[in-house]
Amino acid sequence: MATKKTVAENTKQHSPHKGENVRPLISSADIQQKIRKMGKEIRADFPGEPLLLVGVLKGAVLFLADLARQIPGEVTFDFIAVSSYGKDTKSSGQVKLNKDLDSSIEGKVVVVVEDILDTGLTLQYLLRVLQQRKPKSLKVAVLLDKKDRRIANVSADYVGFVIPDEFVVGYGLDYAERYRNLPGVGILSLPGASH
Ligand code: IMP
Ligand code: MG
Repeated sequence: MATKKTVAENTKQHSPHKGENVRPLISSADIQQKIRKMGKEIRADFPGEPLLLVGVLKGAVLFLADLARQIPGEVTFDFIAVSSYGKDTKSSGQVKLNKDLDSSIEGKVVVVVEDILDTGLTLQYLLRVLQQRKPKSLKVAVLLDKKDRRIANVSADYVGFVIPDEFVVGYGLDYAERYRNLPGVGILSLPGASH
């Protein structure tokens, strides 16, 4: 684990928006270390096979970029966009496909790359859509897993960190499109919130 100071430094250099506060949770160094491990694990599960990483826009962009560089061998990317949260911090439970993949996944080894697994409704929808397209294999890699919040019966094959039920930002995760550029992950508190 990195020291508290390192974690704090990661978030301090980015000043929060009016009255909002970001409390460091996972340092950039810890994220990178975990991703190195995950990349090796994914490759070990599919030795010698071309892998297609499907990133869920926009939150998973940073995670996909780092994960891809830790998987040796043939790797390609594609992206899909769904909407769920909007500007709120509560899930609407409704999922809409905003941007589809550029090419077919039929017969391919596909790894869906998501920033965070919360209620699981987004992933449940995505897996249903992608499974219908007959990939050879369909796996899921998530950086963060809020296990306690699960509503849908889905799980990830590769999980970076299990985190408590708090709204987090950074490393791709946003609040109203902000904070995606924080190198680490932190807990967001809003003005007037009780904690
Ligand atoms: P789910 O459908 O409830 O599992 O939510 C998945 C999506 O909601 C994620 O891909 C994120 O975009 C968003 N989300 C869930 N929890 C958080 C959070 O703590 N911070 C930022 N976005 C979140
Ligand atoms: Mg997302």
